[in-house]
Amino acid sequence: MGKAIKIGLFGFGVVGQGLYDILEKSSGINAEVVKIAVKHKDKPRSLPKDYFTFEAQEVLLNKDIDLIVELIDDTDAAYNIIKSALQNGKNVVSANKKVLAEHFEEFIQLQLETGKSILYEASVCGGIPIIRTIEEYYISELLYSVKGIFNGSSNYILSKMQKEDISYEVALKQAQDLGFAESNPKLDVEGFDAKYKLVILAAHSFGLYIHPEEVFHYGISGISKFDIQYAKEKKLKIKLISSVFKNSENSISMYVIPEFVDKYSNLYLVEDEFNGVTVEGAFSDKQFFSGKGAGGHPTGSAVLSDIAANTYNYKYEYHKTQKELQYNYSSESVLRVYIRYGGDFNLESFFEQLLERYQNTTIQYVVGEIKLNRLNQLLSEFKTEIGFVCSLGDK
Ligand SMILES: NC(=O)c1ccc[n+]([C@@H]2O[C@H](COP(=O)([O-])OP(=O)(O)OC[C@H]3O[C@@H](n4cnc5c(N)ncnc54)[C@H](OP(=O)(O)O)[C@@H]3O)[C@@H](O)[C@H]2O)c1
Repeated sequence: MGKAIKIGLFGFGVVGQGLYDILEKSSGINAEVVKIAVKHKDKPRSLPKDYFTFEAQEVLLNKDIDLIVELIDDTDAAYNIIKSALQNGKNVVSANKKVLAEHFEEFIQLQLETGKSILYEASVCGGIPIIRTIEEYYISELLYSVKGIFNGSSNYILSKMQKEDISYEVALKQAQDLGFAESNPKLDVEGFDAKYKLVILAAHSFGLYIHPEEVFHYGISGISKFDIQYAKEKKLKIKLISSVFKNSENSISMYVIPEFVDKYSNLYLVEDEFNGVTVEGAFSDKQFFSGKGAGGHPTGSAVLSDIAANTYNYKYEYHKTQKELQYNYSSESVLRVYIRYGGDFNLESFFEQLLERYQNTTIQYVVGEIKLNRLNQLLSEFKTEIGFVCSLGDK
């Protein structure tokens, strides 16, 4: 075996410790963690003290270190670490979808300027090897869509509500107690986390980078037992789905929204903290990938794969960005949606077409076809009146 790859690790939390454990047990890779940068000085650690430092520069400027593995939960600090690592001539592996999605173009540029690489398989759907699959396997395939369940915490909450007939609040508390959801779960349940992952996958799949702020997302925090019952009566399940798809010859749309999924969809059976991705191409047709989207070992295993890829100088080539066919981004795609709401206001004017309307003394909902940008307007104008929105798919 050749010279060991020397790693400077940032973060020793769920993923950092998972990775360390995997490296200890794995015999297939000649890698050594030289130094670990963490934040809190008084936290008890499972390794001897001299492994750790609280000074980023001690790792970033260490000439013995070949590779920086960034696994921290602070986005601003992560941005500085990744940038400084590349500028100091080190390759980077990261699991940080937020920082990658927000600085995607800048990081591509920095890789070109420095000749160094950032690999980030763990940032999207944890243990499912989807980025490299899209980047390499589908290199020449004309993709139609990439769609899936990208957030394990919200999928866990939805699964519990649908299987056990419990409220959103109870399901969320269970997810938090089991460590699937953060104490501040907003990033997960409001669809932000799923959106960051979607932005990264869309850039690799279609060569079009859209800043997360421009991408529509709607989460699951408004869901009620009535919505679950509505789905059950129609033999459907509600899942938080991220989609990017070609909606005309040269335009794509993307969004994160809860969706009613029927039993013929592969995503129907993706339960609890699992993730699933369906990739549809002109020639390969539909292919489905599923696995654990989070957790120390599944995510650590994706990080390990990137560390291994570093040993043979693998870099993303961003093939699709270099293709002749450049896509535009459209927020005008039409969705068929169910909207449960309260109050009395003119909701009809937002729709292209209203297909169903229901009202009793306590509940009212409509089903209809609406453009994505109009749905966005409706949600911002009538924030408090809208109870829950769920898609029945794109038209
Ligand atoms: N958890 C998952 O299943 C999962 C899955 C996919 C991707 N990710 C991503 O992986 C990353 C790490 O997540 P995690 O769940 O492992 O987080 P975590 O358990 O909260 O651990 C975070 C670690 O980062 C360290 N840290 C925070 N700020 C730092 C700074 N400025 N400098 C150095 N170290 C710093 C903390 O230090 P202390 O130990 O001193 O507190 C801690 O060790 C995040 O980007 C997350 O989005 C996580």
